[in-house]
Amino acid sequence: MADPNHCNSLSITDNRTGKSYELPIEHGTVRTMDLRQIKESEDDFGLLGYDPSFLNTASCKSQITFIDGEKGILRYRGYPIEQLAEKSSFLETAYLLIKGELPDKERLAVWTYNIRHHTMIHANLTKFMDGFRYDAHPMGILVGTVGALSTFYPDAKNIGDEESRKLQVRRLIGKIPTLAAMSFRHHLGFPYVLPDNDLSYAGNFLSMMFRMTEQKYEPNPVLEKALDVLFILHADHEQNCSTNAVRSVSSSKVDPYSAIAAGCAALYGPLHGGANEAVIRMLEGIGSVDNVSAFIKSVKSGKGRLMGFGHRVYKNYDPRARIIKKIAFEVFEETGRNPLLDIAIELERIALEDDYFIGRKLYPNVDFYSGLIYQAMGFPTDMFPVLFAIGRAPGWLAQWIEHVKDPEQKIARPRQIFLGAPCRDYVPLDERPSRGDDEEKFGICRL
Ligand code: CMC
Repeated sequence: MADPNHCNSLSITDNRTGKSYELPIEHGTVRTMDLRQIKESEDDFGLLGYDPSFLNTASCKSQITFIDGEKGILRYRGYPIEQLAEKSSFLETAYLLIKGELPDKERLAVWTYNIRHHTMIHANLTKFMDGFRYDAHPMGILVGTVGALSTFYPDAKNIGDEESRKLQVRRLIGKIPTLAAMSFRHHLGFPYVLPDNDLSYAGNFLSMMFRMTEQKYEPNPVLEKALDVLFILHADHEQNCSTNAVRSVSSSKVDPYSAIAAGCAALYGPLHGGANEAVIRMLEGIGSVDNVSAFIKSVKSGKGRLMGFGHRVYKNYDPRARIIKKIAFEVFEETGRNPLLDIAIELERIALEDDYFIGRKLYPNVDFYSGLIYQAMGFPTDMFPVLFAIGRAPGWLAQWIEHVKDPEQKIARPRQIFLGAPCRDYVPLDERPSRGDDEEKFGICRL
């Protein structure tokens, strides 16, 4: 009799044995654990899926962020990013991501109050900050200090306790901008600025970054709004590299500070949060609009990448890049035009007409214009990934909570295909043949 679920299943024949199997399909996926039953012989381990870099593997079920990379769609909890960027605020969006629904007036007020009243850090953390070298990269400082928060809040290890989770969420969203601003001022040798809880989330961050001797810092409203929107645009992006790091590390049931520090570490890399910093360095390297064609040629010949272009998921214009391009012009009205903008516009124009980029579906991503805005606002390039981390924190936390509550999740532990040496006997040092000219043979390395 025909299986009524047949149309929702995958039939596989193992040509090694001639045996056939039927695997259920749910939500357009098969479970790779279902492959395990496919064996060549009784003592065979069973078939594994091989998917380096998770190109075609879903690691979780999620209700937080939806992306259609082909169409260039991004939604948080169902709300289009364009509407949130235009109408919401960063803290409201953070609430949406973490709690699943937009808050009513009262809830938003309480949420905002709670985040604003967790902006202070323990004074000992200041000493920890002082221990970094004067030229330490602020993102390296952020990785270290966010991780260090776990030692100040040992209660955070109660990850199964909902009240504790709520508290850590408020602490993290509240304190990350404080740590971020301190990492910047440490570099300059300026005294740290205490949080000003009268200001908005973005306004307080600008105050902690740039306030000097004035009694009260008054943020430029255009820049304050632009920064708030940039935080919204970065707030979540489903299972990206840093979110995967957060989920993977928290699968060991470690506290959220350690897991979010892992997210910051992943974000530090030039292919992820470091990309907008790399875009500015690239634009500075190109130097002038006249050199753009030659630069594009060198990228096509395999000498480096066009930073700020391409995305694992978007095979269309990144919707965030569209919004950011518009903000860039609003910010430049206040700050004056960033001279690198003309090079960026020319790069985009040429790349979008070029078969190399069209054929590979490489379009500007979120990082292509964001660095130009940050630079015009007075942030040094080293701070760009740190700004990304402030924006991404609510997304990481929403994904962390979802992960902790998901009964299907276990400790993340991929398999491997072992292609190394077979079992062999240890050879005593005197009996080993010379191994040729490898680097260890060329002498002791002294610093
Ligand atoms: N410039 C030139 N060629 C590129 C680029 C680029 N930016 N990105 C991809 N390609 C080429 C690549 O060489 C390959 O060509 P071929 O098929 O001839 O070998 C093809 O396009 C596919 O590339 P891939 O490396 O397999 O794609 P991926 O999905 O693994 O990489 C990416 C995605 C974002 C790492 C990559 O596009 C990249 O390195 N972009 C530049 C860095 C960047 O802007 N990163 C920010 C990403 S968005 C923010 C975030 O998530 O952090």
